[in-house]
Amino acid sequence: MGSVPSRTVSAQAAAGLTALYPGSFDPPTNGHLDLIERGARLFGRLIVAVLRNTEKAPLFTTGERVEMLREATRSIPHVEVAEFEGLLVDFARQCGASAVLRGIRAISDYEYEMQMALMNRRLDPQVETVFLMPAEAYSYVSSRLIKEVYRLGGSIQGLVPPLVEARLRAKWRP
Ligand SMILES: Nc1ncnc2c1ncn2[C@@H]1O[C@H](COP(=O)(O)OP(=O)(O)O)[C@@H](O)[C@H]1O
Ligand SMILES: [Mg+2]
Repeated sequence: MGSVPSRTVSAQAAAGLTALYPGSFDPPTNGHLDLIERGARLFGRLIVAVLRNTEKAPLFTTGERVEMLREATRSIPHVEVAEFEGLLVDFARQCGASAVLRGIRAISDYEYEMQMALMNRRLDPQVETVFLMPAEAYSYVSSRLIKEVYRLGGSIQGLVPPLVEARLRAKWRP
């Protein structure tokens, strides 16, 4: 009692690891940034990986999403932003990442996230998926809802970084 050596050891071990945080980020929200800040505190290197969508038609190009994320994460140490396509586990191997970071907002995220995590584990048992919860204030924020509310004229202030709001404005109210 009192000392927690095993926790200290694993925190040190995690601090040396590279983690990948993959997603669409169309656009990045404060929920994503909350998760990035938490991940950057846990891992030695956190690579935010923007998926080059093939099926969904994104609002922002991959380049725009990468730019927004770079700007929004500039002050967070050991965070990098990259883009990828293809199998996540292949990109993880290329980056030397041993963990994949994902966010769970509510029970509704759980089913899909568990499927993905178990499929990725089957594809590469070396890569571990780690789930983090955002601050409650962002637990209902999704990129989809942000786009919908903004498009209909509602306020999204405080839910996305100001630079993202400016980009949305430029897209829809030039
Ligand atoms: N507000 C939020 N709080 C915490 N995690 C979030 C939030 N919004 C999205 N995420 C998580 O970030 C990851 C990427 O989300 P998203 O950009 O929607 O890409 P994807 O197309 O992979 O779902 C997912 O794990 C998602 O659950
Ligand atoms: Mg999503």
